[in-house]
Amino acid sequence: MADATRPENERHTQTTPPPQFISLQTTNAQIILTVTRGAQPGVLYWGQPLSNTKPEEIAILSTRQAVHGGPMIDLPASFSNELGAGLSGPPGFIAHRNGQDWAAIFRVTTVIQENETKAMVICRDENTKLQCQYEFELNPKSHVLSVSTRIENMGADDIIIDWCAALCMPLDPSFSRLKSFTGRWAMEFQTETIETFTGSYLRENKAGRTSHDTFPGLIALTDHSNEDSGKVAGFHLGWSGNHRSRVDRHTDGRSFLQMGELFFPGEMRLCPGEAYQTPPFYAAYTDQGLSRLSQMFHTHVNAAILDKRTKDRARPVHYNTWEAIYFDHSEEKLKKLAKKAAAIGVERFVLDDGWFGARRNDKSGLGDWYAAAELYPNGLCDLADYVRSLGMEFGLWFEPEMVNPDSDLYRAHPDWVLAAPGVDHIPARNQLPLDLTRREVCDYLFERMHDLISTCAIAYIKWDMNRDIQHPVSQGHSAAHRQTHAVSKLMQRLRDAHPDLEIESCASGGGRADFGILRHTDRLWLSDSNDALDRQSIQLGGSSFFPLSVLGSHVGPEKCHITHRRLNMDMRAGTAIFGHMGLELNLFNESEADLATLGAAISLYKKHRQLIHGGNFIRIDTPDYLNIVGVIAEDRTEAMFACAKLSGHTSTLPQRIRFSGLDREKEYLTRIIWPMSDIAITTPSIIDIASLTGDGHVFSGEALSVHGIQLPLMHPGTCMIFHFHER
Ligand code: GLA
Repeated sequence: MADATRPENERHTQTTPPPQFISLQTTNAQIILTVTRGAQPGVLYWGQPLSNTKPEEIAILSTRQAVHGGPMIDLPASFSNELGAGLSGPPGFIAHRNGQDWAAIFRVTTVIQENETKAMVICRDENTKLQCQYEFELNPKSHVLSVSTRIENMGADDIIIDWCAALCMPLDPSFSRLKSFTGRWAMEFQTETIETFTGSYLRENKAGRTSHDTFPGLIALTDHSNEDSGKVAGFHLGWSGNHRSRVDRHTDGRSFLQMGELFFPGEMRLCPGEAYQTPPFYAAYTDQGLSRLSQMFHTHVNAAILDKRTKDRARPVHYNTWEAIYFDHSEEKLKKLAKKAAAIGVERFVLDDGWFGARRNDKSGLGDWYAAAELYPNGLCDLADYVRSLGMEFGLWFEPEMVNPDSDLYRAHPDWVLAAPGVDHIPARNQLPLDLTRREVCDYLFERMHDLISTCAIAYIKWDMNRDIQHPVSQGHSAAHRQTHAVSKLMQRLRDAHPDLEIESCASGGGRADFGILRHTDRLWLSDSNDALDRQSIQLGGSSFFPLSVLGSHVGPEKCHITHRRLNMDMRAGTAIFGHMGLELNLFNESEADLATLGAAISLYKKHRQLIHGGNFIRIDTPDYLNIVGVIAEDRTEAMFACAKLSGHTSTLPQRIRFSGLDREKEYLTRIIWPMSDIAITTPSIIDIASLTGDGHVFSGEALSVHGIQLPLMHPGTCMIFHFHER
């Protein structure tokens, strides 16, 4: 209204500089940023590459206008939607100096475009005396965008940052659904899909680790997106500490996604000259559905996160002692187990909790990283040597960040733990978190681990972390951020000393699985549940972001210790094959027949692991009673699909399944390679007619992917693996 009443010549008197843009591009992705000097920066476009479009066109097409009842100008969105700029909806940056200096407006001062895929945009706010540096990078292989933001205090007084999203990422208006991750101990990576709405979707984690229940990942979908097709965008914060994710649909019609660190009160205080850098925020976009989105993240993990130590080696079959013996260690028993494990094809023997100090149960000894002489009279190195003499690597469990109050370490250094003054510790697994922000604590841990790794030539460590940190306070100050960094630093220190050492990230199962921890580790223990049926959904959820090569997956005992469900060896082994395979059961309790089946599964895994870990991963849209995932070689000459029947169905037969992703021009010899015996309940089934467990049958990729295959009738809790080879 006000504008319309102003004389025509007055309406245009405000001179705005001509907009300036930069574009980062790969063959499959593009991001265009508005970087006009002296103005706020913004994300103008992110999505598939626009080959015939100039940024100026998008800028004009995005023209918004002032509306009655609101500000007289439409307020532009920026990278941080900071408070001073006045945009409605939750800001991406909140900071203040004792209640003042919160009205920041970051304006571009410098733009450094390093190359086609990488740029830095530096902004300043002279008023609040802050400098803000945004780094954007598109990975040319994965097409995944990484963004990180650095805030520097240029003022004379301290500033407290309460919130700093790595970026306020505008969301395409066609995204109408959000897929998020939830779960609990022994049931991680479950998914929920909700319709978007006006207002805020908020997830916060203050567990002091990535958490079992709030994985920092979100996927945006349209009404029509599925595994196979449709527009989808995935987002992840590469951070193993506290975090917040939010999606806000403002009443002005715009939606933004933010991810960043969740700070405890006053935690992020910057003295003059100090800076804070957000963890990296990852974003991937495709119009080819959810499976393609996962492939992009998998490629990214391989191209930009994992060390070559992991990528260059076939993933060895593990034997983990935890569920076989728990705390009941003895040198003799372990040697027998090791021998039996080696005999069925195990390649790495990992000695879990219970080998050190007075750790005969979970109440004592944690922190005393000296092998228990009463259990290992000949020393731990003797067992390690024996394991190696059987042709296996030796791995060892540590939980470096924790201490039992009943331990020599705690008795000597009761002040070495994180604690909020005047507040009782929250009891959790009889242990307390050590304060890794203290140099002497890390030095002790490094010395102990380094000594054992060096003297016993340990090739692998399982790095556990078995409780939340509710009171991350060091010497009176909130320290969750510093603690998370200290863990990475300690890992890096060990890495530098032992470049070939592999590390598994475990936190009571999948409580610390994210791209941040994967920078220092080689395997994720996704869940303590070895129940193959539960594992189907856990691994499925994890596969949204993580490649199968890092997803530790173990064959457990027939009766799962956690769920008490009984599943046969075919199902347990068939499930573990589609991951980084391992065993976690007492081999002496298994029948000869089951050991033979297990041995066959290990051989199958070894034969196909290059395909399983190197192929393109795919999930198939199925009814709830099925779970079908596959891997297809890059040249599509070979593929494997695991098909699990999770529960019963109301139809007499299960439905026909399409193996999408196979090459329609090729012919494939189709066989069922797992289990070894016919799985069909009634005969003759398609298995007999097409000789699927025998010589196989040749089908065209077109028939298999367009028409699909009628599945045989199988019992719930069973699985089979199809193999396709070009003819
Ligand atoms: C955690 C891990 C398990 C095992 C135990 C040992 O629960 O997730 O795999 O290592 O600790 O105490």
